[in-house]
Amino acid sequence: MELAGLPARATVTEVGPRDGLQNEKEVLPAAVKAAFVEALSDAGLREIEVSSFVSPKWVPQLADAEEVFRLLRPREGVVYSALVPNAKGLERALACGAKRVAVFAAATESFSRKNVNASVAESIERFRPVLEGARAAGVPVRGYVSTAFGCPYEGPVAPAAAARVCRQLLELGCAEVSVGDTIGVATPRRVLEGLEALEAAGVPRERTALHFHDTRGTALANVLASLQEGYASFDSSAGGLGGCPYAPGAGGNLATEDLLYLLEGLGVATGVSLEGVRAASRGVERALGRPLQGRVFRAGPAPKPGENQA
Ligand code: HMG
Ligand code: MG
Repeated sequence: MELAGLPARATVTEVGPRDGLQNEKEVLPAAVKAAFVEALSDAGLREIEVSSFVSPKWVPQLADAEEVFRLLRPREGVVYSALVPNAKGLERALACGAKRVAVFAAATESFSRKNVNASVAESIERFRPVLEGARAAGVPVRGYVSTAFGCPYEGPVAPAAAARVCRQLLELGCAEVSVGDTIGVATPRRVLEGLEALEAAGVPRERTALHFHDTRGTALANVLASLQEGYASFDSSAGGLGGCPYAPGAGGNLATEDLLYLLEGLGVATGVSLEGVRAASRGVERALGRPLQGRVFRAGPAPKPGENQA
């Protein structure tokens, strides 16, 4: 028997330094964050979201974004990106040499208000100058759509509502969209409904990443369902760090090690070393002083033949 429809390769976008660390009570020194990013690059990750150029009052954990970027050694083929909420954020990101930036909208009004203090339409209007500035600088823009499956304030979200915002972001000039299960409520059937809505809205698979949080343990099942539909780009966070400070109940992101273990088992190539990512996670775990929850991170490598024999 075979699992049908799997792609040969998948892209993993590492969001731990941003999505993970934005939600930690402990604020790590910039040098520790930069070392984390370097270790993730060493592991073979080629897309790493380093930080956010947002208001330091809103996300104090990432107020040192400039310093973290300054400490990074540029590497051929590695894209260091950052979140930017507005033109001011773009200016800061470009000054730091960010190779890609991400704007972020939501599928629901209540979350949008809490996260960026604006309606969905207002937030998209704010992105117009960001997209123009990024185009002029030759920097591609990713567009996030949060609460695409469920909202902490409004509950279930209509698939078409999320797809509409994705479409708007592509029309505005985003190179790709990342569809977020911010509070980790999706299950595979609901994911397939979401993917159908994206297709109906004309959002191409090749320009879509999926961003699952693993709050309820369904993220890997959701990845498998998406892979079988030909989606091959996933966001994850080393060690399972993560959450969102403006989404009560948001658990950690899908752990990068869990995603890699699944993809390796399925024979889907990523070019990333699972053990390399574990090493990066161990470093950040030590610095945070609390155990990270990623399952494969905790379990370690699967036993080899003859191991653990009495
Ligand atoms: P505001 O308070 O409405 O805006 O915030 P403002 O324009 O009135 O600015 C307030 C102050 O912030 C001013 O400073 C600005 O200069 C400053 P003051 O005059 O009071 O001293 N400011 C900035 N400073 C530095 N960099 C900037 C910047 N912009 C304004 N770029 C704003 C509006 C959008 C700025 C604010 O709401 C904000 O920063 N929100 C960010 C929230 C956030 O980062 N959330 C987490 C990321 S989203 C997420 O995690 C979901 C995702 O993972 C996908 C998923 O899982 O769903 C992506
Ligand atoms: Mg997230």
